[in-house]
Amino acid sequence: MFRKNIFTVKAGFSALLLLMSTCSLATPANQTPVIKKSGVKLWADNCARCHNMRSPDSYSDAQWDVAVLHMRVRANLAADDARAIVKYLKSAN
Ligand code: HEC
Repeated sequence: MFRKNIFTVKAGFSALLLLMSTCSLATPANQTPVIKKSGVKLWADNCARCHNMRSPDSYSDAQWDVAVLHMRVRANLAADDARAIVKYLKSAN
């Protein structure tokens, strides 16, 4: 049952991402959109470079705070990006 919930969350995120990409198509060509990568995208881009991705539900909120603090240094992430990743991980654990 817990597994099923995780999949539901992931499906929800996919739907959200799809929605967001559809919205960006509506941006006029002469306007440069400020694209802020979402936490889930930053996580996917940065957190599987050196090791397998740890599922968000592998750790508690407090543990993710510590883990991302350490990994932020390793991955050379900006503070905003690390915050977005932690926010995503905490929302999905
Ligand atoms: C530059 C390489 C590198 C990147 C990028 C990186 N990690 Fe790591 N990570 C490591 C190494 C090496 C270890 C094991 C040594 C340690 O704990 O410091 C580790 C350990 C971990 C652990 C602890 C696992 C355990 O079993 O104790 C977690 C959780 C983790 N990483 C999450 C992340 C997350 C989330 C990101 C993205 C923000 C990330 N890592 C990005 C290199 C990296």
